[in-house]
Amino acid sequence: MRALIVYDSEFGNTEKIALAIAGGIEKCRAETVKVTEAGGIGLQQVSLLIVGSPTRGFRPTPAIMKFLEGIPDGVLNDVAVAAFDTRVKSEDIRGRLFRMIVDTGGYAANPIAERLRKKGGILVLPPEGFYVEGEKGPLKEGEEIRAGAWAKMACHA
Ligand SMILES: Cc1cc2nc3c(=O)[nH]c(=O)nc-3n(C[C@H](O)[C@H](O)[C@H](O)COP(=O)(O)O)c2cc1C
Repeated sequence: MRALIVYDSEFGNTEKIALAIAGGIEKCRAETVKVTEAGGIGLQQVSLLIVGSPTRGFRPTPAIMKFLEGIPDGVLNDVAVAAFDTRVKSEDIRGRLFRMIVDTGGYAANPIAERLRKKGGILVLPPEGFYVEGEKGPLKEGEEIRAGAWAKMACHA
């Protein structure tokens, strides 16, 4: 089984989660690639593709969206897929109105999962969010452990 984790990260938090996920599924020979380096990456031999992004304005980053849109039709047919994001916990947001906007706006993992599914992938994990402390992080305590455990279910090597 070849597993590939493609992620974006500006401040390093999503990268840490991606590496923790790779650790959680190391039996599946997981490779981690930042989206900016994923240009020529071949998905042909990949049997598990996990894509993660920071939540920016309720959405994945433009680079992750571009990567998803660029996946050729048919390549993900019968490929196991999963999506994650990093995000701010709504309890941590000061101001009721802003909290409500963030809650309603949603997060990056769902639209990523939806696009992977539309490309033919089989969603094998529920989309998941991992929490950062402030706008730029750091990750909340225990999130890397939680990420490794979340991904384990997808690796059947
Ligand atoms: C411009 C900007 C927009 C953001 N928008 C959201 C958002 O809509 N929802 C949310 O939960 N967090 C939001 N955040 C917090 C990011 O999710 C956080 O910066 C991210 O998890 C850090 O990931 P990284 O270290 O991998 O870049 C935003 C942060 C920035 C700087």
